[in-house]
This record gives sequence, structure tokens and C-alpha cells, in this order.
Amino acid sequence: MVSVEWRNGVVRFIDQTKLPHEEVYVETSDYRVVGEAIRKLQIRGAPAIGVAAAYGLVLVAHASSVTTMQELSEEFYSAINYFSQTRPTAVNLFGALERVRRTFDLNARAEIPDIRRYLLNEAKMMQEEDADACRKIGEFGAGLIQIPSSILTHCNTGALATTGSGTAQSVITTAAKQGNVLRVFADETRPLFQGSRLTAWELLRAGIDVTVITDGTAGLLMQNREVDLVIVGADRIAANGDTANKIGTYVLAVLARQHGVPFYVAAPTTTIDFKSRNGRNIPIEERDPRDVTHIGNLRIAAEGVGVFAPAFDVTPNEFIHGIVTEVGVLRPPFVKSIAALRTDGGAPDGNQPAVPRGQRA
Ligand code: MRU
Repeated sequence: MVSVEWRNGVVRFIDQTKLPHEEVYVETSDYRVVGEAIRKLQIRGAPAIGVAAAYGLVLVAHASSVTTMQELSEEFYSAINYFSQTRPTAVNLFGALERVRRTFDLNARAEIPDIRRYLLNEAKMMQEEDADACRKIGEFGAGLIQIPSSILTHCNTGALATTGSGTAQSVITTAAKQGNVLRVFADETRPLFQGSRLTAWELLRAGIDVTVITDGTAGLLMQNREVDLVIVGADRIAANGDTANKIGTYVLAVLARQHGVPFYVAAPTTTIDFKSRNGRNIPIEERDPRDVTHIGNLRIAAEGVGVFAPAFDVTPNEFIHGIVTEVGVLRPPFVKSIAALRTDGGAPDGNQPAVPRGQRA
């Protein structure tokens, strides 16, 4: 299963809002359908959003009937503006838009059929790079789990959220293949249930022992020493390592520190926002109150209640033991390990184990 791809001249994606009950694929040549899918979380997860937006821009050039580059440029820039307003937090979206825009501008004198080809090649390359990063994240992350361990995760960071094997979930599936995963606790992840609907579905299909818990259960499990390691994904990592991820992640990080459980983030370097000095600069998406007051079409909160529905929170860097990337595991102080990525491509230490507390092997 590939969450989003280019197939026979159209964008094809799995509608994640229908899972786990129905596996429905959408095929479209309309970039607005891709944009709406991102907005409505039919396509979700930071890396998948980035690749989807890149393919969306390819559609603009492919579907357009204009005859001059000037006209195409107007349509193209207006589509960039449209995509940039779909979801504000996942930085992969903005990185992808910028990368495709650069390809467009660098070829401003090319013929339209050539431009179409160049843009498609760029988007496909981004998909391949993402898949490759997922594989490497899995390998580096699995190196942290050297004895059979119980792992807790939040939201969904699997193949659905990327165009490869996932981020935190790639670590889990790789460690499982090495015999080092006893069980996974998947937070249901209110309000949209990415954990119970998506993570549990993916892990079950991978043959991994998965237990769904309500978000509030993590504290009890840690108190009972049932969690050896927490690993989550990221939507945007600031230059100092502060990490925006699905709402509820910060609570987990605080609990993990309180109980001496290692807390890791796994993300490709495309999720690092070098321009955000710290987490305070990260824009946090607020969702429709309906996400909280309703489950599907069923109202569960009384009419008239107030709702606060941020989609993400920011975990300060001091709670994070390491950030697993495709170039290795970044260690604190993150200001230094992240800055090093810009200068020398980074050669962080990927082999230092987390030394899970669990001794039940
Ligand atoms: O609102 P979502 O479902 O797009 O939020 C997704 C997350 O928070 C993921 O943890 C993050 O994007 C990492 S996905 C590899």
C-alpha cells in the first residue's frame, strides 16, 4: 500500500478517513481534490502531506490548457498559495511546495510539455527520497531497542503517514523483525483516532502485538512499569529540537520523564524547520470544534459548550532523548546536532542504545 502516488497521469491516494472499515482509493487529475484531501485529513501525516502537495502542483501543469509560460506561472503560483493554506503545522508541506516552485522557476524558459516532465520527476524523486528516509530511520531507530521491549506510540506514523514504511512506526516494525518488540501500546489519539483507526490497523497487518489504549491510560502503564520506550513522529522540529506533534505528545513526554522512560522522536530531516529557532515559532493548527464535540455524525458534547481544539502541541527539547532521522540519531544538545546537519550533512551517532529499563527479555 502506498498512501499517495502518481499513477497513469493522475494522483492516487488512500482515503484515510474511511479506514479501518473501508480501503477506498481516490484517483484525481484536479489539484483541488488533493488540497481538500489534505485539509480533511484524507491524506495526513507530515511526509505524506508534502509529497501529496508536490503531486498536486504537478497536476496544475498537467491539467492546464494555457499556452504560455506566463499564464501557466499565474496558475501555478495561485495553486502554491492554495496548498499553503491547507494545513499550517507540518513543515514538509512548505518544504515540498518550495522545492517544486524552485524546479518551476529554474525552468521558466522551457516548453510547457518539458516543464510537466520536470515537475513530475521532482515530485517522484521526493516520494523516493521519503521512502528511503523511512527505511533508514527504521534501521537507526531499531538500533536503540536492543532487548525485547514494550513500546508506546501516539497518533499514526506508518506507511499511511509517509510514502514509505513510516517514521516512528518504521522503527517499531524494523525492531519487531529483529525480535525486539514485545508489544505496542497505541494511544487512540483523540479527537480523530489516528491511533485506534490507523496505527492499530497497520500494526495488526504487520503481525505486531498491538493494544489500543485511551490517551489518558499512558500514565497508569508507566507507573506500572509496562512501557520501556516511547517513540512518536513529528510535524515540525525547530532548530533547537522543540518538536510539534499530535496533541497529547507533550503529556506523554512529561510522563516519560517522570517515570524514567526514554522518549524518542523519529522524523526525516525534511521535518526540521531550520528557520524556527524554537517551538514558540511553530504555528499550531486549530481544528473545527466539531472534531471534539462529535464522533462521526454523533454529537457527544452538549450543544453550546465551548471547545478548544489544537491539532498539535510542542514538546520542549529537554524532554527528548534523541531524534531518529535518516542520517542517524541526533542527540542533545539539539541546537548543535541540528545545526551540524546544515554544515556537514551530519554524522550523528546512530548506535547508542536507549537501554530500555524493561528487563523482561
Ligand atoms: O493531524 P495528522 O494526523 O496529520 O497528524 C499527524 C501526526 O501528528 C504525526 O505524528 C506526524 O505527522 C508524523 S507522521 C510520520
